[in-house]
Amino acid sequence: MKFLVTGGAGFVGSYLVESLLDRGSEVRVLDRVIGELETLKGHPKLEIVTGDSQDREMVNSAMKGVDVVYHLAWSFPSRPADAFKIDVGGYINVLEAASASHVKHFLFLSSSVVYGEPACRPIDESHPHLTEKSRDPLHALTKATVHKLSSLYYTLYKLPYTIFIFWWGYGNKHIPGRTLRELIDSALKGEAIKAPEKASGSVAYLGDIAKAFEIATLNEKAYGQEFNLSSFQIKWRDLIELIVKLADSPSKVEIVPDERWDGHGFLTGLWEISTKKAEEILGYRSNPEKAREVFTQALKLDIAVRKKL
Ligand SMILES: NC(=O)c1ccc[n+]([C@@H]2O[C@H](COP(=O)([O-])OP(=O)(O)OC[C@H]3O[C@@H](n4cnc5c(N)ncnc54)[C@H](O)[C@@H]3O)[C@@H](O)[C@H]2O)c1
Repeated sequence: MKFLVTGGAGFVGSYLVESLLDRGSEVRVLDRVIGELETLKGHPKLEIVTGDSQDREMVNSAMKGVDVVYHLAWSFPSRPADAFKIDVGGYINVLEAASASHVKHFLFLSSSVVYGEPACRPIDESHPHLTEKSRDPLHALTKATVHKLSSLYYTLYKLPYTIFIFWWGYGNKHIPGRTLRELIDSALKGEAIKAPEKASGSVAYLGDIAKAFEIATLNEKAYGQEFNLSSFQIKWRDLIELIVKLADSPSKVEIVPDERWDGHGFLTGLWEISTKKAEEILGYRSNPEKAREVFTQALKLDIAVRKKL
């Protein structure tokens, strides 16, 4: 079976590419850069096409002979005109090419940013897309738009699609994110750190995300569906205390009631994501114990990297 992974050189994409290659699949990547794929370059079953999803001809040619598409190319522009031209425009190019060449399944990785702000707990897939209430309303709107576009292509051209939604992902060796980097740096400097009392989120281990893609691919139960994914729930105050402990830092952690929180915008809300639908329909199961272990290990490595800077 042949896969096209757009954005396959990125953080999540490269993990999925490696899992596909490990299972013996043929993979073509379309990405602007080689990025995280440097070590996989030259793999006999991997073809890397360096290009942009805005280039229609290039996308059409990358789609040749492809059975399944994983679409992960996303560039997060900060201006609406760029975000719609690049990310939404590129998405349409991929949908067009996939339906024209009768791709069997199109899977997209979205973000819980689409829900705007948590209006209930836990958040399931029926939560409204409150894009204008989001901390990042442009990102929320572009994601909500491509959800609708996927559904439109399913209705008009019968292109089977599946969308996965998650809050914050991490791998075996790295937890990305500017806020986390800043928290680690504060701990390494021994600065006092504020933590919201209740704010929390459902983090997702890339191993669990890869498993979800595997069980959903060409699974008719997943067609036309959106599924939340997560591995375990963590409170920011617990994460900050863990950073302080692992960094062996003298930093004092000051707990602030959420209603008085004026720190990092990312450290707000109760992002408790329900994975019940994925469990019931796809048989998705995370392994929270292992996921926590990997999280702590990755955090230790990130702290060590920042210590050397
Ligand atoms: N990392 C997370 O914690 C997280 C959380 C929720 C959702 N997501 C979603 O998962 C998807 C992938 O995220 P990521 O963290 O791997 O991002 P990333 O930035 O690491 O990877 C994105 C890749 O897409 C490529 N790309 C961007 N625009 C392109 C274009 N026009 N044409 C070709 N390639 C292009 C980039 O070069 C990059 O390699 C995104 O849609 C993101 O919103 C990620």
